[in-house]
Amino acid sequence: MAETYDVVIIGGGPGGYNCAIRAGQLGLKVACIEMRGTLGGTCLNVGCIPSKALLHASHLFSAAQNEFASLGIKTGKVELDLTQMMAQKSDAVDGLTKGIEFLFKKNKVDYVKGKGKILSKGKVEVTDADGKKQVLETKNIVIATGSEPATLPGIEIDEERVVSNTGALSLKAVPKKLVLIGAGVIGLEMGSVWARLGSEVTVVEYLDRILPPADAEVAKEAERAFKKQGLSFKLGTKVTGIEKTKTKLKVAVEPAKGGAGETLDADIVIVAIGRKPYTEGLGLENVGGKTDKRGVIEVTDHFKVADGVWAVGDCIPGPMLAHKAEDDGTAVAELIAGKAGHVNYDLVPSVVYTSPEIAWVGKNEEELKAAGIDYKKGKFPFMANSRARTNHETVGFVKILAEKGTDRILGAHMIGVGVGEMIAEVCVAMEFGAASEDIARTSHAHPTLSEAIRQAAMGVEGWTMQM
Ligand code: FAD
Ligand code: NAI
Repeated sequence: MAETYDVVIIGGGPGGYNCAIRAGQLGLKVACIEMRGTLGGTCLNVGCIPSKALLHASHLFSAAQNEFASLGIKTGKVELDLTQMMAQKSDAVDGLTKGIEFLFKKNKVDYVKGKGKILSKGKVEVTDADGKKQVLETKNIVIATGSEPATLPGIEIDEERVVSNTGALSLKAVPKKLVLIGAGVIGLEMGSVWARLGSEVTVVEYLDRILPPADAEVAKEAERAFKKQGLSFKLGTKVTGIEKTKTKLKVAVEPAKGGAGETLDADIVIVAIGRKPYTEGLGLENVGGKTDKRGVIEVTDHFKVADGVWAVGDCIPGPMLAHKAEDDGTAVAELIAGKAGHVNYDLVPSVVYTSPEIAWVGKNEEELKAAGIDYKKGKFPFMANSRARTNHETVGFVKILAEKGTDRILGAHMIGVGVGEMIAEVCVAMEFGAASEDIARTSHAHPTLSEAIRQAAMGVEGWTMQM
């Protein structure tokens, strides 16, 4: 007789594993099905974690070459050991994925290896790597199947020379010439890694700006900073094809609005034009589940697909971010346990882990203008922040937007060293409904980079200390 679970989760990424662990903590009987062979999903295996391991190591490599001498540190010749750099990346991934297995055991979550398919309400079939099938019976099914890279028609990803984010994280040698398609988050993070390690990087972007969801002023400052680091951008440009010769790739590009084309030579092309939900072979139709034309699973505002069927993370609407997936998963476990689970999508922060980092939360200026909301703005440059000056890391600024009249903070947009950590202060403030004056009157330690947030908040009222 098959066991009956309270919850069976399909997918062991940040959405799925957080849902599983929280459900276990709440005393529910839980199974989590994962087909990859390791837990952690895209984020831990081929996303957030390996990319940050390479960003960190390549940043130090570049600093040792270009910055240490000016700080009075003599290094001798700095050399790259790419094999070791990749090995430390894999160590970080292994440690964290095994950590989730440990947390599953600790919270009595059954880890079922294989591909899950919904047969009907309450029934999920699992097929393991040898083709052996079993059926799990459950009161609730949670879909947490995540996403996969979007592809360009006519361009075949071979993960050797034309690669997605997965191949981009495991190149065997530093390409001499690297072309990235897409100046979004992956394009900028991966472009930074390989440029720091010595590649000549060209980023081809369809739109006439980089990083579309970011505040335009931040994106402009970022473009300037990346150009100084040697990245070159072809904006308003589309790729029409890639010809593979024995030794080279010939990337055909032309203006997005039409016009004369040109060919870019490349050793490697990284395709990073966004991601799409992964629902292949899931059996969504067996419970009446629907997707929109982009393949995003339709859910109610509290994650319901159908009675007893829920969905979380990258496969449902909202930003495709690990912490958003985590929050979705936690909320669904709590809803299933009869508690109040809710996620405030307006306050999910975004961070791009380049150098300088880019971070934002809430609405940007373009969105406020489009919505006809009257706002005040305070902006403070790191050039005027004493810690940034001391560290010789003065690129960027903090901008705070607050509602005219109420002074309630509506958004914060930052570019500079360390802003990926600093954004959390504004998230907490906004979650508590803070006014910009609340931050302006809160003591911030001196000398810290976070004083720039306080000064930007003071700037909303016009009493910043800027020189
Ligand atoms: P996923 O992490 O994709 O997990 C879904 C899992 O389900 C996968 O392991 C898959 O194998 C499994 N699965 C799918 N179908 C089935 C099935 N039928 N049966 C069994 N298992 C199945 N986000 C951030 O917040 N910060 C970052 O720094 C960041 N960096 C990134 C860098 C890169 C290069 C990429 C590609 C993404 C990055 N992201 C980052 C995004 C982040 O990885 C995703 O938002 C997050 O992983 C989504 O979590 P998820 O649980 O919804 O899906
Ligand atoms: P993205 O959506 O961030 O950027 C894609 C870019 O490609 C956009 O600028 C878009 O205009 C451009 N584009 C689309 N089609 C194009 C075409 N045909 N030719 C040229 N340019 C084209 O997607 P990306 O970078 O692939 O990342 C996917 C997702 O993964 C991100 O949106 C994010 O959710 C997540 N991610 C998050 C990270 C983080 O939080 N630090 C890091 C990496 C990824």
